Amino acid sequence: MLELGVKAALAAGELIRERAGKAQNVERKSGQETNLVTELDRQAEEIIIKRIRQEYPDHDFLAEESGGHDRKSDYRWVIDPIDGTTNFAHGLPIFSISIALEHKGNLISGVVYDPTRDELFTVEKGKGAFLNRNRIRVSTVSTLIESVLVTGFPYDVKSSNENIRHFQSFLVEAQAVRRLGSAALDLCYVAAGRLDGYWEMSLSPWDMAAGVLLVQEAGGTFTDQEGRPSTIYNKSVLTSNGLIHDQMIRILAKGSMK
Ligand code: IPD
Ligand code: CA
Ligand code: CA
Repeated sequence: MLELGVKAALAAGELIRERAGKAQNVERKSGQETNLVTELDRQAEEIIIKRIRQEYPDHDFLAEESGGHDRKSDYRWVIDPIDGTTNFAHGLPIFSISIALEHKGNLISGVVYDPTRDELFTVEKGKGAFLNRNRIRVSTVSTLIESVLVTGFPYDVKSSNENIRHFQSFLVEAQAVRRLGSAALDLCYVAAGRLDGYWEMSLSPWDMAAGVLLVQEAGGTFTDQEGRPSTIYNKSVLTSNGLIHDQMIRILAKGSMK
């Protein structure tokens, strides 16, 4: 089933590569001035779902643009057709396609594809994490001052500033802090050891489903922001190489509004 996810992601990637940079119909999602959706988000999602349905017509889906399709299957595909739509809509080449598969509610495989760099991240539970079929592992840095961290902010950033405080705290503790704009790639980069830790406050399951499994199978740690076991249905996320996890939890606790 992983290979089916790969085929679907590559097909969507091809469409996006062909059409990237050409005039896109950009709309704002209902009532949210900064939350964009392009015609390619919808078309890529259709391609992915169609491809999977050809082989598994009874499987369930949870997809960002078309919502839930519930057929009472044990299998559910969790899909973000373009993660990083704001970047994509501006021609900034940092976005990805994310597809994960759950069995009875547990993540069993995932694919994140970056069509700009032709980087394919794949994972199966218990079998490791891969970039272009080569095994990847999290980094080995053990202090924040040696770490490059990444975060993201929700679209309605005006209504919540908690993460701005965390961002500020990490800026003075870490080697560097980034905001790339694609949660799925943030997670892949932690899995590949390019980044050492990632936190975000307000994600949806499709943003992180494939990426958190990649981090775990690459030897990293995924919890909530207080260090408790978490799931993709918890909006806030903390992942790291494991070695800096407790240090990140301490910084998050200092800036928390609770
Ligand atoms: C967004 C990206 C971004 C994150 C936002 C997400 P989208 O997804 O993952 O990095 O900060 O919270 O909504 O809307 O581009 O699919
Ligand atoms: Ca997303
Ligand atoms: Ca999206």
